[in-house]
Amino acid sequence: MQISPSILSADFANLEAELGRIATADWAHVDVMDGHFVPNLTLGLPVVEALARVTPVPIDAHLMIDDPDRWAPAYAEAGARSVTFHAEAAAAPVRLARELRAQGARAGLALKPATPIEPYADLLPEVDMVLVMTVEPGFGGQSFLDVVLPKIRRTRQAIRDRGLDVWLQVDGGVSVDTIERAADAGADVFVAGSAVYGADDAAGQIARLRELAATHAH
Ligand code: DX5
Ligand code: ZN
Repeated sequence: MQISPSILSADFANLEAELGRIATADWAHVDVMDGHFVPNLTLGLPVVEALARVTPVPIDAHLMIDDPDRWAPAYAEAGARSVTFHAEAAAAPVRLARELRAQGARAGLALKPATPIEPYADLLPEVDMVLVMTVEPGFGGQSFLDVVLPKIRRTRQAIRDRGLDVWLQVDGGVSVDTIERAADAGADVFVAGSAVYGADDAAGQIARLRELAATHAH
């Protein structure tokens, strides 16, 4: 069970210090939004490059951008150890995943709430992680969508049926109130933005989330 706090809810004027607050996490989740694929704009390549130089934990880049075929490999080159692109935006997901892996990064495939896993199930051997969005991507602080739980279950089953070691990440509305449901459905990597950065004791919150998830491990 891994915790990947999203710096979207961090203080953008103090990102190095904010990364320091999550040094006990497994990853630092960095949300890249281009104002086209999602109706919000955050940060891009130069900032990820700078974060990669100072972060105490590996960077888990979540690209909510159009044309990831063109832009995603540069994030691996910039130092992101995991690069997740959206299925809805990729023209050639297999080619892109292979390119990311060839650069030494983990390749992640993300699905918005209304995107089914079934058309991608046979591509699972090509990726290291599936990200099942549990909110509509674009903003932090939204409520966890319980309607996505059956898809998390089907994704875990599809991974198991194929005997694969693919991680299943959930992102959006993950908190002490919802993480157990997500873990129970089969998630094993948990993104949490407001839940971690909104807490006074980020490390304590990370430990609490990890503990709650572990009691529902598969
Ligand atoms: C939403 C982003 C999330 C976001 C999660 O589009 O992908 O990573 O930061 O924030 P919370 O945990 O507050 O829902
Ligand atoms: Zn994200």
